[in-house]
Amino acid sequence: MTVTSLTVDGYRNSLESLREPLLAQSLYDEGAVIMADVLLVLHGAEHRARRLLELKVFRRDFFRYYEHELFPATLSQTMQPFVEAGQADLIDLGYRVTMNLTADFAGIDRPLRSAQETEQLLALVMSFSEGATLVHSTRDKEQVRQEVRAALKAFERSFYQPSLTRRRALLERWRQGELPEADLPRDVLTVLAQNEDRIELPADIMMREIAFYLQAGSHSTANATAHAFHDLFTWGRAHPQDAARMASDPLFQQRCVHESLRLHPASPVAWRKPTCPMQLPTGQPAGVTDRVIVDLASANRDRAVFGADAEVFNPHRVLPEGVPPWGLTFGVGVHTCLGRDLDGGVLPREDCDPASHQYGIVPLFVRALFEHGARPDPARPAKPANHTERPNWGSYPILFGASE
Ligand code: HEM
Repeated sequence: MTVTSLTVDGYRNSLESLREPLLAQSLYDEGAVIMADVLLVLHGAEHRARRLLELKVFRRDFFRYYEHELFPATLSQTMQPFVEAGQADLIDLGYRVTMNLTADFAGIDRPLRSAQETEQLLALVMSFSEGATLVHSTRDKEQVRQEVRAALKAFERSFYQPSLTRRRALLERWRQGELPEADLPRDVLTVLAQNEDRIELPADIMMREIAFYLQAGSHSTANATAHAFHDLFTWGRAHPQDAARMASDPLFQQRCVHESLRLHPASPVAWRKPTCPMQLPTGQPAGVTDRVIVDLASANRDRAVFGADAEVFNPHRVLPEGVPPWGLTFGVGVHTCLGRDLDGGVLPREDCDPASHQYGIVPLFVRALFEHGARPDPARPAKPANHTERPNWGSYPILFGASE
């Protein structure tokens, strides 16, 4: 069967394509080893039912609580040894911070809290990420699949089953009236184990769903953090007044991170397949064997929407009414990222109080890096990732502390 690829670009056409109910997800077909039947690849009623169930975890009040109460401690504990050593690789540090974040949301316990346990989970999550983005991998794909299968087995034994067993026991105590509902863990695994909506979810799919959450959140957040650090550092060096403002005005700093998110969508493209013969928003006809490629990276640089300098970082750009500063980076429509407000925070309203505003994990993480004097290590320049066609950083060595 020959597959014809039809590319949709331009902001408006891309937006409408992502909102089109006749187009189903297809980017992860190749990564089925980890992505088969997880939320992101479901369509129609099945997707709606699973999303509604899991949405219980992704509420703004919980994000606010997480950002203000839990994240600062996780962040400083994870950063401390690197700050003391005076250096880190931002990609590695990013994964360590964000892996804890997504493990909390997914519902994976790390009872030992030891360095070895973190390393073990991190290696598994890296393997899941590689499996999920297999379509863009430049490695031998069968080899990657084998590694992912082995990683899933290790994950089941060391992390997933113990986390599930603990939650089942807590749910039993709750059913018996021995534990108030408020004391149950607030995470996806608990919601799935409780499954009040009675959605059919075989054991292997449930485990892949949790593995998907672990990698979806950590991979994209770690990459977004490295891009944002690079963009804010580069802009700040060329514009000292803005560097000073980023340090004193967290709302402006958040705006700068949103500008970086626009320039670097986690996946440069979204893929969709028509569920029946149809017409794309571009006017092109599309059939069920066609692949529709929504070019998010170019949509986010559409000059008609973002201005003549859309290609470059400019946190002072004026946006048209209704266009979010991050463009399509978190997707739109039924698959809109569930972690959007957690990672990017909320857009400040005019009457917003900077002390209680929800800034998002990526702006907070980048702010903490700058507060510790982080800067690129001149002796070890950052390198692009070479295991994927995605334009990410492979390593980004940084130094901490006052520069000499
Ligand atoms: C900067 C960080 C992030 C970016 C850029 C990002 C981007 C995206 C995008 C573009 C999609 C939609 C893909 C499509 O339509 O094909 C998506 C979906 C999703 N994201 Fe994120 N994401 C980020 C962080 C997170 C985090 C931290 C979590 C969880 C803790 C998360 C959970 C999800 C889930 C569950 C979906 C699937 C939603 C559905 O299919 O209904 N993401 N993300």
